[in-house]
Order: sequence, then C-alpha cells, then structure tokens
Amino acid sequence: MDDRSPAPVPPPGCPAHGSGGRVPLYGPEFAADPQAYYAYMRHYGPTAPVELAPGVEATLVTDYQTALQLLQDSGSFRKDSRHWRDLEDGKIPADSPVVPLLAYRPNCLFSDGAEHLRMRQAVTDSLSRVDPRRITRTTEQAADYLIAQFAGRGSVDLLGDYAKQLPLFVFNELFGCPADIGDRVLFGISGMFDGVNAEKATEVLLRAVWDLIALKRNRPGEDVTSWLMRHEAQLTDEEMVHQLALLLGAGAEPLRSLVGNTLHRLLTHDRYAHGGGLIEEAVDDTLWENPPIANYAAHYPVSDMEFADTRLSAGDLVLVSFAAANTGPALSAARQAGSNRAHLAWSAGPHACPSKETARHVTVTAVERLLNQVPDVELAVPEDSLTWRPGPFNRALVTLPARFTPVQPVRQQAAQVTETAAPQAAADGGPRRTGLWSQFLNWLAK
Ligand code: HEM
Repeated sequence: MDDRSPAPVPPPGCPAHGSGGRVPLYGPEFAADPQAYYAYMRHYGPTAPVELAPGVEATLVTDYQTALQLLQDSGSFRKDSRHWRDLEDGKIPADSPVVPLLAYRPNCLFSDGAEHLRMRQAVTDSLSRVDPRRITRTTEQAADYLIAQFAGRGSVDLLGDYAKQLPLFVFNELFGCPADIGDRVLFGISGMFDGVNAEKATEVLLRAVWDLIALKRNRPGEDVTSWLMRHEAQLTDEEMVHQLALLLGAGAEPLRSLVGNTLHRLLTHDRYAHGGGLIEEAVDDTLWENPPIANYAAHYPVSDMEFADTRLSAGDLVLVSFAAANTGPALSAARQAGSNRAHLAWSAGPHACPSKETARHVTVTAVERLLNQVPDVELAVPEDSLTWRPGPFNRALVTLPARFTPVQPVRQQAAQVTETAAPQAAADGGPRRTGLWSQFLNWLAK
C-alpha cells in the first residue's frame, strides 16, 4: 500500500469494505461498476491484492508503465501456468470458474521461450496470409445475413442476434469449416461462453476441431487451418487442436465483446451521432475505456522478487488490468496528446494479440454494415438497466436491446431460408444439425 495515499474507500457493495482484505473481482458489484474498483485499487500503488473467484488469490497490476514492464519481462516471469504454485499445491478448487482460462494447454498463450516462438510464428504467419479483402467480404456477408433475420422486425438484441454470432461465422469461413463441422464449432463455442452446458459444448468443439484437422490433412485448402498445419513449425495434431481451439475460442469471445461494447458506446454517447469516420474512433475509444479483455495476461514470477514495491514469491499469479492501466489518471494527458493506439487492450510484449488488425477490421466492418442498414437504431431500454456479465476477465454485456424503423433486408431470401431450414433442423435434433452455419451457407448459395 502506498503510504502517501489517503485511506482508500472500497466502492459500495465491495466486500473488501473494512476488512482490509483482497478486492474481489467477481460478483455483480464489480461487473456493475469496475471503474470504481479500479479507482479504489489505485490507492494500493501500481499493484493490488485481488481475489479472482472464491479462494483464487492474485496480484493485479493496475498501472500502465508497470504493466508494460511486466509484459516485456519474459526473463523474470513465465506464462506457462504449470508454474502456478497455488494450483500445483491443490489450493484452487477444481471446479473454480477461472480454471478453464488459466490452466495450462499446449498453445502459444501458455508457452515460453523457443517453444512460444515456434507456435506463435505458425499463428502469425498463417493469419497474415488472410487477404484483407476476404475479411471484408466475409464480414459483410455474415453481417447481411444476420441483419436480414431481424431487419423487418424493428427490434433486436444487438448482442445475442448480432455481435455474438458474427465472429463465429467469420471464423468458420477463414478456418475453412464445411457445413457439418461448422455447425458443431458454432454450437461448441456459443455453449462454452454462454454456460448452457459448458462441458458438453467443449467436448463438441474439440471433436469438431479434430474432425477439421483430419479433413484438412487429407484435403488442404486456402484457409487458416491448412496454413497452420503446413507451417514449418510442424505442429503435432495435439498442438493443432489446442492452437485452433485457442484461436476460435480466445478470438470469438473478445471479438464479440468488442463489437458489442462499441455498439453500446455508439448508442449511449451523443458525440458519435454523426456517423462517418467516427466508427473507427468509437472502436478505439472502446479499446481504451472498455476493453473486451479487462483483466488477464497471467504471469508467474520465476523466483521470489520485489516488483513495483510488491513482494512476490515464485509461482504467484500476477495479472494485468488492461482496463485499469488504460484509464489511469496519468495516462489521460498522454492519450489526448495523440498516441491513440497506445492502449493495452491487445496486451503488449511477446504475447500481444497476433490478430489485432483482423479483429479491428472485422469490428469496424460489422458496425459500419449495421449502421448503414438500420441507421436510426437506438437503445430500446434505459441505459442504466443494461447488465454486464460477472467475472474477472471479460467485459461483456448480457444483452443490448435496440429498436429501429423496420427495413427490407439487403437480400430477401435470407428470411425464407431460415424459415424453411428451421423445422428441418428441429426434426434432426442435436447439436450436429441445428445448423446455423448450414443455414448461412444455404443463404449464400442462393
Ligand atoms: C477484439 C478482439 C480481441 C482482443 C481484445 C484480444 C486481446 C488479446 C490479449 C489481451 C491477448 C494477451 C493475452 C495474454 O497475454 O494472456 C491476446 C492474445 C492472443 N490473441 Fe487476441 N484478442 C482479440 C481477438 C483475437 C482473435 C480474433 C484471435 C485469433 C483469430 C486472437 C488470438 C490470440 C492469440 C493466439 C493470443 C496468444 C498470443 C501469444 O500468447 O503469443 N485474438 N489477445
């Protein structure tokens, strides 16, 4: 704790009130007003003691410069979570909700040194082969299809009916998923994040990814899966599964939140009302002030050390608050001075997001396409009735209800395809044939 600071006052509802304990980053209070928590935590100095879920203790870096120092110091910190002492010692409840996002898997996010370089190179090289025109075209097609489902209705949940689905359609195309596998990928990822039956959903996704790999080994195509597979890094099938699951899962979740959080911003801030180039600005402002991944970048000190006035032991869990670092008072001036992309929403250092250009491109295109087709879209509920999903890592709305003057869809047949495909999908039953991806492919083929 910084002695020079006035006595900190926890935000209302925060159980750290009076206890002097760790600041809990779960529960509805944190989700309702994270900035109040970040302001409170800054009184501790550049880092604060937090609890990510009951019984899961961590140190959270809230200061921008300290965050950069951590993210760039791969000599003193590891990303491989097999170094996480509390997990190794069995202190973390096996069913803790944070374990799936922190437990080790053989992909680039959890690897260090030469192993990380090898896997990351395969990812960056494969993603860089995607032609930006293909991203524009795929995003526009996915957007048109989704908009066509609600255009005539005059009302929509922009999160559930648009932001959540669009990245999945785009990924399915870029990764070369045929109808059956794509349906299961969509089912798996949606289920994993929406918690309906996360275990079943993960199983469906992994099975689908294995099938995709088998398919591309036999019949490679012009897609990210085939490029990854043929990369000189020579990923094993197991590595391929985990890399693909990381790309699909770690990509879809923040991407849907960036689309959702940007739309939220556009609908709740008058200054964007005039459209045009302001969409790009709204995306950047969202990345600064409401980043989709709010707190993450788990690191583990190699040895006992002093870091930013904090005593850390080897194997402690240390995370970065991108949301707090981006909004620190000292930074506002620098940001106004013009460095508009210096935010940490994509992280920094060797593990910075390799897909930021693609993700930004998809988001700008998706938002533009929506506003072009339903230009008078507005929030359908009072802003303060919107709720945000609880949890320490992601910043995502639960729903974003909106209304607009009904319009003719860009392509009329979309509604017909859905109507005819829906009863058939219901008759087939099961995740395999619910067929969101198949319906989209049918619509494209018309
Ligand atoms: C708006 C969307 C996105 C945001 C805000 C975002 C943000 C981030 C952040 C903060 C990290 C660092 C995490 C850490 O160090 O623990 C990261 C890493 C990563 N992201 Fe993204 N990401 C987005 C979209 C995507 C997409 C679309 C893909 C893939 C298609 C992707 C693939 C990855 C991968 C593979 C890593 C790990 C890199 C490594 O460990 O070397 N991300 N991303």
